Amino acid sequence: MDDLSPKPGDLEPIETAPIEELRALQLERLQWSLRHAYDNVPAHRKKFDDAGVHPDDCRTLADLGRFPFTAKADLRDNYPFGMFAVPTEEVVRVHASSGTTGKATVVGYTARDIETWSHVMARSIRAAGGRKGMRVHVAYGYGLFTGGLGAHYGAEALGCMTIPVSGGMTERQVQLIRDFEPDIIMVTPSYMLSVIDEMERQGVDPRSTSLKVGIFGAEPWTDEMRRELEERTDMHAVDIYGLSEVMGPGVANECVETKDGLHVWEDHFYPEIIDPVTGEVLPDGEEGELVFTSLTKQAMPVVRYRTRDLTRLLPGTARTMRRMERITGRTDDMMIVRGVNLFPTQLEELILASPALSPYFQCVLEREDRLDTLTVKVERRPDASRDDADGAGAELRRQVKARIGVTIAVDVVEPDSVERSVGKMRRIVDRR
Ligand code: DLL
Repeated sequence: MDDLSPKPGDLEPIETAPIEELRALQLERLQWSLRHAYDNVPAHRKKFDDAGVHPDDCRTLADLGRFPFTAKADLRDNYPFGMFAVPTEEVVRVHASSGTTGKATVVGYTARDIETWSHVMARSIRAAGGRKGMRVHVAYGYGLFTGGLGAHYGAEALGCMTIPVSGGMTERQVQLIRDFEPDIIMVTPSYMLSVIDEMERQGVDPRSTSLKVGIFGAEPWTDEMRRELEERTDMHAVDIYGLSEVMGPGVANECVETKDGLHVWEDHFYPEIIDPVTGEVLPDGEEGELVFTSLTKQAMPVVRYRTRDLTRLLPGTARTMRRMERITGRTDDMMIVRGVNLFPTQLEELILASPALSPYFQCVLEREDRLDTLTVKVERRPDASRDDADGAGAELRRQVKARIGVTIAVDVVEPDSVERSVGKMRRIVDRR
């Protein structure tokens, strides 16, 4: 794999500024953002008033802990445009996330918000090893989903030849990679697996393409999956995080030179970790629910937005900004099987440790005699024998019992029998 570490002058000054400088900038922006939300969004004003706090009460960054949270339900209750802090005439773009249940949540951007977003996305692509003049193949979906257009504007802002492929039509994805020779691909990790399979089907060695970096996100994945993707493609696999309510992709990104978690672009998004049950703010290093307050957004500021994503905050390394560890899962992805909590990522880790099992798996939850059962349906690798795969399935079952403490069933199925996705993979099938 190529050395894509930044050279002197590649980074913006704030990315390596002294921490005090970053904190001072954050406080100034936070005070502006709280006031902006309070003055212009009745829903925020009411919540602040009910909690007995006023934007003037924010004198230090720690004071943010006194302000009320915002949840997805607040966005839904104010559907479609009730959370906007500017007249709709100033909104130049909207996106929406369908969510698995209920009404979509809508987010809006002013022209300056689009600039800010492009800027942090360009910074993310650069952290992943991208530079002006490179070619970027965007296979995140274009449309109401923020992935495609977010990546697109960022790649253009960095000065890259941007190839807006969107998701799906896997054969054509491979053809375009062969013909246009991109340096970077931006896609969900689960869809990348399908692209790799298609390369192999077409007789293209995935290690021999022009691709140097994959910028993978929009769904949870593990270090074991990183190893799998890097080995099969001989490119760097780097993690990108974001969510529509806060901006879209580009809230945090891993640096290719360290690959040690995602640096949160804290000059625009202020992170906190809270106890998901009590709402108490936890110190850095402790795992809990990630919460974001936007510092510069005009059209739709968010105050202490509860992401439901679980992770922890760690000190900066390659950049001044703090890192967030890979997302373990979402509070709503947590499966509770006979009282034991577990996440699909824990299963991914164990599955990929086995050479006979493929990364294509789904967790099927069912109820039998009032007891919840979990069956992991996992494909054998095409080059593994049926016997080896069955042995690996039995071993997986033992490992889950020994390490996580719960009894599951494992159903090792034939290649190509687990549902494929062109975007976010559905890991949990709930039949209860
Ligand atoms: O998924 C934005 C995005 C697009 C991020 C492309 C990265 C790349 P939403 O559809 O609003 O936005 O979904 C946001 O996806 O709260 C997480 O649960 C999950 N998610 C996003 N990135 C990661 C990641 C986009 N790197 C939700 N690791 C978030 C784990 C992720 N989960």
